[in-house]
Amino acid sequence: MEKDVKEVLVSETNIKKLVAQLGQRITSDYEGKEIMVICILKGAVMFCADLIREIKVPLKLDFMAVSSYGESTESSGAVQILKDLDSSVEGRHLLIVEDIVDTGLTLRYLISILNARGPASIKTCAFLDKPERRKVDVKIDYSGIEIPDAFVIGYGLDYAEDYRHLPYVAVLSSEVYEK
Ligand code: PRP
Repeated sequence: MEKDVKEVLVSETNIKKLVAQLGQRITSDYEGKEIMVICILKGAVMFCADLIREIKVPLKLDFMAVSSYGESTESSGAVQILKDLDSSVEGRHLLIVEDIVDTGLTLRYLISILNARGPASIKTCAFLDKPERRKVDVKIDYSGIEIPDAFVIGYGLDYAEDYRHLPYVAVLSSEVYEK
């Protein structure tokens, strides 16, 4: 396993610190309100599970699964909804939780479809931000850490569905995908 890791980018200790800071900011910004946290499957599962334990205002949790846009739809950024929310978002304060924002296309699409459903507010939270890869401008209200443009795995992020369970964020060794 460790031979597949080139370099640890965000250690377990650092993750804990960053998540706690995000939780504190969110708690203070939403004082007196109830949040509806929308966890975007699958990558955000680990981050979201840690984050909500650091949020001290009432919240409800729901999940959405979306497929990556294919080559042909990349310019429009349209993604397919594989699993929609169980509950209505109307009049709710939504917090979209992502593991990573890369091109920004997924988050932009999610904001636009959720906005059309009449929430009271929408904010976004992403643990990792890869600004070098951005194709569309999208606001990340709560961002954990900026990372360089490398293939990252762990803490929910996969390569061919492997490595999601690593407790840290790491750069995948190029030998793995050049095989
Ligand atoms: C990842 C991530 C975001 C999206 C970000 O999901 O969780 O949803 O890609 O990329 P973008 O900013 O370029 O749109 P992925 O499609 O890999 O699915 P997964 O979370 O199930 O692994």
